[in-house]
Amino acid sequence: MDTFPVCSYNEWDPLEEIIVGTIDGVSVPVLTHDMKTFIRKEYWDFYREHGGKPYPIDMVKKAAQALDNLQHVLEAEGVTVRRPDSVGYAHHVFKTPYFASTGFFNADARDVLLVVGDEIIEAPMAQRCRYFEFMRYRSLIQEYFNQGARWTAAPKPKMCDDLYDWDYPEDDMSFFRGEGGVPDHVGPLNGRFITTESEPCFDAADFTRFGRDILAQRSHVTNDLGIQWMQRHLGSEYRVHTVKFRDPGPIHMDATWVPIGEGRVLSCPPRPCLSPDILEMFEKARREILYPPPGVADAEFHMSSRWLSMNILMIDEERVVVERSEEPTIKFFKELGLKTILVDFKDHYVFGGGLHCATCDIRRRGTLKSYF
Ligand code: NVA
Repeated sequence: MDTFPVCSYNEWDPLEEIIVGTIDGVSVPVLTHDMKTFIRKEYWDFYREHGGKPYPIDMVKKAAQALDNLQHVLEAEGVTVRRPDSVGYAHHVFKTPYFASTGFFNADARDVLLVVGDEIIEAPMAQRCRYFEFMRYRSLIQEYFNQGARWTAAPKPKMCDDLYDWDYPEDDMSFFRGEGGVPDHVGPLNGRFITTESEPCFDAADFTRFGRDILAQRSHVTNDLGIQWMQRHLGSEYRVHTVKFRDPGPIHMDATWVPIGEGRVLSCPPRPCLSPDILEMFEKARREILYPPPGVADAEFHMSSRWLSMNILMIDEERVVVERSEEPTIKFFKELGLKTILVDFKDHYVFGGGLHCATCDIRRRGTLKSYF
């Protein structure tokens, strides 16, 4: 093979190959203390009733169709799409020396895998129900490994009780009171997290790649030790910057600060960047910070916020894949001169993920550069 099987340094170079997640076997997560920070409060009763069981089959079928829609749209744009394995064991109880749980096994590949250059990094994750989620990707990863990719599994946390703040007042979270699951005020919880620093943990979606610079957010599922692990692992070729947003419930950066090309980044209006050094870095490099309109697609049991509208996928700097019913966002991109590629995808929102969440770039044509 004359090119690397796995190679991607940013979110906008021309996309050649991508993983689109698979939803079969998804299981309703049990509404544990830590999962309350993840699931919208208005749906807690559903999770109390169904936790540990398969989701209603209709919901799964519709989400599977949404993922297939995405596969077809990407293939029509000339992108190679790979799909991970189905799993049939997500609602079985698994036990480690420190905890027992059932799985979740949603389709959000972006949370589990981070590609940096020719390396695939399996994130250690922080939620017990997602402990074994990497299993879905193992046959694909092994195939990429056989073709020459580098493969790293970050240290799995023990996920014993010490990793969680059991006094975290999730019942009072302002995160769930604002419109569409977005905070309407910062409140006392900004800067307080459900995870502690007892051992490193991170989800891959809390890292956003800009070539040699990678932004990382301390969130409910990514702690400072996890960010330090990433910096030391990647070494001096990369600069991992911790960035803070006005967000009392941060989980994954890809509906908060989303690059749409070398020169432009989307910033979620109710979750602005609070890190002066990062703002200065973008300003000095003359990068434009743009504020998209709110999302309009809402689905019943939608796990995330309305801002999944900005959880888009760049095929290159000219083409953006957007959910078909997000009309204000589509108009916004058209006004920026981008070609919008539309896909019916909102039935996947139930499981927490938009177009970026449900995918993982495997190969984009481009080289390692410094943009700042
Ligand atoms: N947790 C965030 C990001 C999801 C990709 C949200 O709900 O907006």
